[in-house]
Amino acid sequence: MRGTQDSPDGETDAVRLEAVRKVHGRRNAVTALDTVDVRLAGGSFTAVMGPSGSGKSTFLQCAAGLDRPTSGSVHLDGVELTRLGERRLTRLRRERIGFVFQAFNLLPGLTVSDNVTLPLRLAGRRPDRAAVRAVLDRVGLGDRLRSRPGELSGGQQQRVAIARALVTGPAVVFADEPTGALDTRTAQDVLDLLRDTVRQDGRTVVMVTHDPVAAARADRVLFLTDGRITDELDRPTADAVAGRMARLGRPAADRHITAGGPR
Ligand SMILES: Nc1ncnc2c1ncn2[C@@H]1O[C@H](COP(=O)(O)OP(=O)(O)OP(=O)(O)O)[C@@H](O)[C@H]1O
Ligand SMILES: [Mg+2]
Repeated sequence: MRGTQDSPDGETDAVRLEAVRKVHGRRNAVTALDTVDVRLAGGSFTAVMGPSGSGKSTFLQCAAGLDRPTSGSVHLDGVELTRLGERRLTRLRRERIGFVFQAFNLLPGLTVSDNVTLPLRLAGRRPDRAAVRAVLDRVGLGDRLRSRPGELSGGQQQRVAIARALVTGPAVVFADEPTGALDTRTAQDVLDLLRDTVRQDGRTVVMVTHDPVAAARADRVLFLTDGRITDELDRPTADAVAGRMARLGRPAADRHITAGGPR
């Protein structure tokens, strides 16, 4: 399958975190991730949920090699990111990882086409016009190559950002609240694109979201509380996700009373 790589020990996880801790700051140190262990299979779609400040963005940043854990290890596509120096880490990020942000993060001075080809050019690869056109067709914007981001709607801008994340053919796409700034209808289009790249291209997608309906489009939901993965749900429905989220808000003692079986 594309997007995974067998290492000598036969691993097929696209992402693996082992005992990852992340402490931000020195004085007033905040433990944003506390002993996180997780394996995400290649070709899977995972949603990450949890209250504000629970460590979701920190989790994504550490898993994507945008930030370094204080301790523990991160493997991506068979490579241990936590052992790489800056240059190799940057190269791996450019070649194997796509990132989509809530605020789109397009460059306003560049055309749609130039925004999409930027990761290729940064990686020293010559953009193939047909391939760029194909990825923009894929997100429904093949006729907007010459537009600037400011001439597009929010949903269109996020679709450009997804095309930019996909253009290098990454193993894993990380998305931090990709639908957070979009209306329900437009959000569905973006979720469809993320799901399609998992189902059709065999890529692995990891998405932070606050929306149970968005999370229900994933294969699996991880719930973070105070920097720890405290719950997870396979083949989620929006109702089940909302129920688990409500439980996360309760005191820990109360949560454990109901642990032990699905409801
Ligand atoms: N660069 C930083 N310096 C210091 N503390 C940080 C930094 N980044 C995050 N934190 C702290 O780490 C904790 C986790 O933050 P994080 O951004 O990962 O939460 P989140 O779950 O993404 O929240 P939200 O839903 O509000 O986006 C918070 O207490 C936050 O204040
Ligand atoms: Mg966040």
